[in-house]
Amino acid sequence: MNDVNKLINMAFEVREKAYIPYSNHGVGAALLSKDGEIFTGCNVENAAYSPTNCAERTAFFKAVSEGVREFEAIAIVGGLMNRTATNICAPCGVCRQVMREFCSDDFKIYLGYRNEAGDIDYELMTLGELLPESFGPENL
Ligand code: THU
Repeated sequence: MNDVNKLINMAFEVREKAYIPYSNHGVGAALLSKDGEIFTGCNVENAAYSPTNCAERTAFFKAVSEGVREFEAIAIVGGLMNRTATNICAPCGVCRQVMREFCSDDFKIYLGYRNEAGDIDYELMTLGELLPESFGPENL
């Protein structure tokens, strides 16, 4: 299995842990640091709705709270849990902004899914493509 497929596979695995009693939309993320460590995260919902944390932010906050701040790539998978994730799940705007805090425009975002044969597939986008003309730490 190549490195990208491994990262996407880890995102699929952690998605199984998503706490999603309200939406049933499970998301998994696997974040690769520059020094090769991988931090996974799932979405964690809340009865008051707005405290919900997305999978991507869970992964980022786990990494940063372990002292890791430099990142290479993230794999994201998601969709309703009672169906196969056959479509990409693009990160929400808040998660894009959190990525922007720690990552440069060339940060790689692998949007994973399962194709018709059931195999892992993905679309690759950069943070610069998903969040152009952005506001970040150097603006302050
Ligand atoms: N969600 C994520 O975890 N990541 C995304 O990129 C999009 C949305 C979660 C939040 C909520 O628990 C559920 O998906 C439906 O919005």
